Amino acid sequence: MGIEPSLPQSSPAPARLTDPYLQIEGGYRLSGEVTISGAKNSSLALMAASLLTMEPCRLHNVPKLADIRMMSAILESLGVRVKPVADNTLDIDPRFLSVHRAPYELVNSLRASFFILGPILARLGMARIPLPGGCAIGARPVDLHVRGLQALGAQVRIEHGIVEARARKLRGGRIYLDYPSVGATETIMMAATLAEGETVIENAAQEPEVVDLANFCRSMGAHIRGAGSKTIVISGVLRLHGSEYHVIPDRIETGTFMAAAAITRSTLRIGPVFPEHLAAVIAKLREMGSVVNLVGPGTLEVSPGRVMAATDIETLPFPGFPTDMQAQFMSVLAVSEGTSIISETVFENRLMHVPELNRLGADIRVRSGHAIVRGVLKLSGAPVVATDLRASAALVIAGLAAHGTTTIAGLHHLDRGYESIERKLQALGARIERHLPGAAPSEVSNAVAAGPDAATVAPA
Ligand code: EPZ
Repeated sequence: MGIEPSLPQSSPAPARLTDPYLQIEGGYRLSGEVTISGAKNSSLALMAASLLTMEPCRLHNVPKLADIRMMSAILESLGVRVKPVADNTLDIDPRFLSVHRAPYELVNSLRASFFILGPILARLGMARIPLPGGCAIGARPVDLHVRGLQALGAQVRIEHGIVEARARKLRGGRIYLDYPSVGATETIMMAATLAEGETVIENAAQEPEVVDLANFCRSMGAHIRGAGSKTIVISGVLRLHGSEYHVIPDRIETGTFMAAAAITRSTLRIGPVFPEHLAAVIAKLREMGSVVNLVGPGTLEVSPGRVMAATDIETLPFPGFPTDMQAQFMSVLAVSEGTSIISETVFENRLMHVPELNRLGADIRVRSGHAIVRGVLKLSGAPVVATDLRASAALVIAGLAAHGTTTIAGLHHLDRGYESIERKLQALGARIERHLPGAAPSEVSNAVAAGPDAATVAPA
């Protein structure tokens, strides 16, 4: 990882009285089947990769999310046409890509927009992309992206907050990534598809989204071997053609609903899913006592075991336990029997959900980057504010089990990564509503639920 300045533990911005918020009456069991949307982190990379060709591309199973809309706006600002043609299908026409610089105000609000650097450089020979700002969870440096492009022969300089890369023609090279960065692997792989000669990326990220991106590029005519392993080999070609492609399901959304099933001690069927994308999450949930079965091609069933037991979690690059599931599992461990230790090793500031979970009655303390979670019998509803995308999902999960009313502000974080999560949860029997500006969360009476009825969850 790059030299990480230690970031202050930023507390969430106070909820404004006009902010929309979710209201959850917790303590109720869920049941039924939930459909998983396409993967956000794959869709964003594929949208960037569509710039590698002069021909139109069509992407299916793209989730309707704020991040996708933001990436569409960024592509449009470059002269690329992005047209939704159906509920979750996007047509991208990169023929008119003419602008090699992206506007700061757009790039700064979406980290993934930095992924356009490699494709624009490979297509136009020059790119000027603002440095993506850090975000709540970390400084998010891009040194590995830059060093990778330099290894492909690009001249890269960073000044006034702009990354400027030039290369008359990229040439294949060998890159060893100090850290298996997902973004850096994707940036280098995309640029290398049009470089002269062979590129070898060692210590590459192995995430399923990297494999999905490689498969999309190969469907465009790229020559890529080894995606999903630690070494990826790309043989450059002169040009790529358009493609029609179906994005993989979102493994983090799947894991989020698995955590919701566990904390409410419910039986849920979740799909579509590639179980191999969630091996660490499935193994961890089984270790905690849940029963997880594959009940059909691409459908998981999660049901409660005898108890929910504590366990330790260390987040790691794939195939390790994903950092994007850490907050959600902390909520489940907060009401599991025993004490758990959660070590977040991927991002330096991804424990900001701890104070908010403690407001719901959890007993969690942070000691030198580790969260020590002492399981409590039950959580109790309260107003809380989300700090980042996965933290907001953790608060929803905790609210489903907390007795009484939980209100969650900071929904702009949640809406970045979850398509209609409250509608999907309502369909499973959750008492969750999205309230629009007006009534302040604190005014929403924290009425104690009139005693959970028979169908509701017993205290975990
Ligand atoms: C991707 O971010 C995902 N985002 C993240 O998901 C995910 O948490 C992360 O991978 C890890 O799996 C998208 O795909 C859009 P990294 P990315 O580069 O590529 C350090 C979510 O919730 N690093 O693998 O930015 C970095 O600081 C989001 O959906 C460098 O030091 O992650 C971090 O500590 C959050 N230098 C570590 O590597 C670099 O040049 C992992 O980052 C690049 C990264």
